[in-house]
Amino acid sequence: MAKIACVILAAGQSIRMKSNLSKVLHPLAGRPVISYPIAAALGTGAERLLVVCGPKHDDLKEYLKARKIELVIQKDPLGTADAVKSAGRALASFKGYVLILCGDVPLVRPEVLRKFVSDVEQRAAKMGVLTMAPDDPFSYGRIVRDSFGSVIKIAEEKDATDAEREIREVNSGIICADCEWLFSYLKKIGNKNAKREYYLTDLFGIAAVEGEFVVGFAGEPAGDFLGINTRIDLARVMGLMQRRINDEHMLKGVGILDPGNTSIDADVKIGEETAIMPYTFISGDTKIGKNCTIENGVVIRNAQIGDGVHIKSYSVIDDSAISAEAQVGPFARIRPGSKIGIRARVGNFVELKKCELGVGSKANHLTYLGDTVVGKSANIGCGTITCNYDGREKHKTIIGDEVFVGSDTQFVAPVKIGRGCTIGAGSTITKDVPADALALSRAEQVVVKNWAKKKRKV
Ligand code: UD1
Ligand code: CA
Repeated sequence: MAKIACVILAAGQSIRMKSNLSKVLHPLAGRPVISYPIAAALGTGAERLLVVCGPKHDDLKEYLKARKIELVIQKDPLGTADAVKSAGRALASFKGYVLILCGDVPLVRPEVLRKFVSDVEQRAAKMGVLTMAPDDPFSYGRIVRDSFGSVIKIAEEKDATDAEREIREVNSGIICADCEWLFSYLKKIGNKNAKREYYLTDLFGIAAVEGEFVVGFAGEPAGDFLGINTRIDLARVMGLMQRRINDEHMLKGVGILDPGNTSIDADVKIGEETAIMPYTFISGDTKIGKNCTIENGVVIRNAQIGDGVHIKSYSVIDDSAISAEAQVGPFARIRPGSKIGIRARVGNFVELKKCELGVGSKANHLTYLGDTVVGKSANIGCGTITCNYDGREKHKTIIGDEVFVGSDTQFVAPVKIGRGCTIGAGSTITKDVPADALALSRAEQVVVKNWAKKKRKV
């Protein structure tokens, strides 16, 4: 197969997005939009990859530099032909096909691109376009073919005649052309059109007039080539991307009860036989093991979750690790820096922050543990609170293995509880407790006989 140089166009002004953020950096399943065409371009085995950006797109330039992706600057957004031209110098000595992709068309697949380039090559065409037939062709360039089926023109929305607007076959934005031929023909494009832009798509009309051989291939399915110009488009593409991500997980053995109502980011990894219930949001750099159950309404961000873990409804887990066979929730909040040990249990209305809960330990009800290390097999009673903040600094609470904490206890940090201790219910613990002791801090109970009875008679 011929050599490929991919050029991704991303220097447009994104006016229709109405956003300060570059359009191609808007998040799509946890990654910026442009990361997808970049991945597809790399997946073709291209020798070169160039992204065309605008001079003011500092956020995009930074993104590309951090990934060592070659970028070229288009000085002014004069149109797609001008954008491709700005890659001319960088590709001056390149021999092969230039594959042009749009930074705002993220659902393209590398295998489709590879086949497209090889089809163009096999037909020995100077240029080819990948087309699609969406339900609504509005805003796309319409493909005009002659009676032999050859592409003789691409008519842009604002310039098309009424008859041309009726055409359903449109330009996907993916174009492949012989490198040397492309850059010599780009010079012939003018800007006498409705948008006063240099349209790359004018090349097809010019080639037809000059008798050059160009081809158009229908790409399937049309959804793969949806472009993002508005936030409505972004949401539509997001729906398709989510379906693709969820389908992939299901094919690998993950049970997703209601894929239309389950949001999973592109980089999330999930093991076999894990069941995911509706209205869950799993995002970022998250890994979930095998045989887990993630109940409805759970939110998980950047978490490492072992095998056989059960996360019950409406729990929120952030930047934390949960080991095998642990149970969390319902209504638990696991804040950043927490580590929940094997078979440990965190119950309803429990908040953990920078908290390590050892193997088999339990905090089952209405508890706050912050900046805390709990050993193995400890029991943290209902209503336990660590007072970890003195108004200026955070302090640590250390609770040893097999400690039993009675209900409604406050630990005023910094404080250490030795292994095997019992803390009496209702205590406020301000001093360290040595191993195997009982610690208790509460006023002795007073019982006044018949007090209530007398009061009733008054
Ligand atoms: C373009 C095509 C249209 C096609 C559609 C597919 C042209 C003239 N039209 O229309 O036929 O159906 O894509 O999605 O090519 N860009 C630059 N510099 C510029 C202008 C644009 O880099 O000066 C980039 C944009 O950032 C974008 C891409 O080129 O990634 C396409 O530009 P856009 O303005 O979105 O073109 P469409 O109107 O969508
Ligand atoms: Ca577009």
